[in-house]
Amino acid sequence: MSSVLTIRGGVPLTGRVTVRGAKNLVPKAMVAALLGNEPSVLRNVPEIKDVEVVTSLLQLHGVTVEKDPITGDLTLDPTNAKTASHTAIDAHAGDSRIPILLCGPLIHAIGEAFIPDLGGCKIGDRPIDYHLNVLRQFGAVVEKRPGGIHISAPGGLKGAKISLPYPSVGATEQVLLSATRAEGITELSGAATEPEIVDLIAVLQKMGAIISVQTDRTIRIEGVPDLGGYNHRALSDRNESASWASAALVTRGDIFVEGATQRDMMTFLNTYRKVGGGMDIGDDGIRFYHKGGKLNPLVLETDVHPGFMTDWQQPLIVALTQAEGVSIVHETVYENRFGFTDALIRMGANIQVHRECLGSVPCRFGQRNFLHSAVISGPAQLTGTDIDVPDLRGGFSHLIAALAASGTSRVTGIDIINRGYERFTEKLAGLGADFDITSAE
Ligand code: EPU
Repeated sequence: MSSVLTIRGGVPLTGRVTVRGAKNLVPKAMVAALLGNEPSVLRNVPEIKDVEVVTSLLQLHGVTVEKDPITGDLTLDPTNAKTASHTAIDAHAGDSRIPILLCGPLIHAIGEAFIPDLGGCKIGDRPIDYHLNVLRQFGAVVEKRPGGIHISAPGGLKGAKISLPYPSVGATEQVLLSATRAEGITELSGAATEPEIVDLIAVLQKMGAIISVQTDRTIRIEGVPDLGGYNHRALSDRNESASWASAALVTRGDIFVEGATQRDMMTFLNTYRKVGGGMDIGDDGIRFYHKGGKLNPLVLETDVHPGFMTDWQQPLIVALTQAEGVSIVHETVYENRFGFTDALIRMGANIQVHRECLGSVPCRFGQRNFLHSAVISGPAQLTGTDIDVPDLRGGFSHLIAALAASGTSRVTGIDIINRGYERFTEKLAGLGADFDITSAE
């Protein structure tokens, strides 16, 4: 049975939240454990749905996953890895996209992988062509079978010279997870270099991998025959931190985000300051607050790291509905990430979405009929409404809009938010939000 949040808006969120390991690193570090010949320990693991999904998938493949009842640390033992039934994999994969990253490690561990048809947030087509091309370049044989894709490598994976058409996070991780134990050298150009990728490289290096990252988006991996385990503390979730930062701005609140790290959020912090948000940067976290005056409009383009991250865009747009003037946001990473603005418009926001590239650089989606530029005019008075959460970040944005709005909102589909925001209802309650949770029939 799913839950419904009834939110009574207008209360500034104030207090403290703790952000733990990054959703976009932790599941991948768990997958990396499969490459080792001894157990690994992963610390700072959040209780989110994606961690549950990967735990189940690894267990199906014979990996023992033990969770420390006090710290939540995971010990992952891959020494008895085995083939799993396709039906069981399909049943456990849920709507996660992580299974595609199991390919390289499974081929190294057991010689084959089966990947069910993938889900993930509804923010565009989210194809896996880069992943499959990468695997083929390592020598893998990719076959479409009913319900998914079967991948094998009769001669083992071999290092390759690979160039990505776009710096995809997932495809870069695919290369890293496949190349570390492949025979020979792999040189990847056009790689993504997000902090979560650098943290995955740190995990692999602890296991014995040899990986160097150049400043021109080239990553070089010298394959080694065997890897050991790792003991690693996952980097903090900068996307969750940025979401709470926007929540403070939208609700005219004041939130200390314990675990927010300046180094990984510099681009966000510059933008937050330009909008007029207040911040105090500390060693153990960052205080984000509304300074009481007006918010400033701005022109923004999302991009791969070190640009403004696409996952920061949606919560910040809610803040821009409250800025004095016209803001423009050009989304260049996903073709369809403005669907969430429909609900904001119903709440009273002034937002138009356009097919044209309204940015300084034409992107891959220009002239292709994708509504990927948004014009936001503020300030707008938001009023509560009924909302069905469309995707992870869009859903969080709806929540904070409802928390800032006058009147009551009824939000359904909130389980999607559990995919990436640990205990978000407890955190909201701790910040003083006024809401009830009931079960939907
Ligand atoms: N793409 C392709 N073909 C592929 C793979 C990607 O065309 O085979 C395209 C995508 O459609 C997209 C672009 O390349 O337009 C970038 O996608 P990328 O591969 O970088 O994204 P991802 O690895 O699937 C991760 C995060 C996303 C985050 C993006 C961008 C995870 C589990 N997900 O996705 O996080 O937005 O990188 O930084 O790490 C979120 O947290 O809400 C979220 C969606």
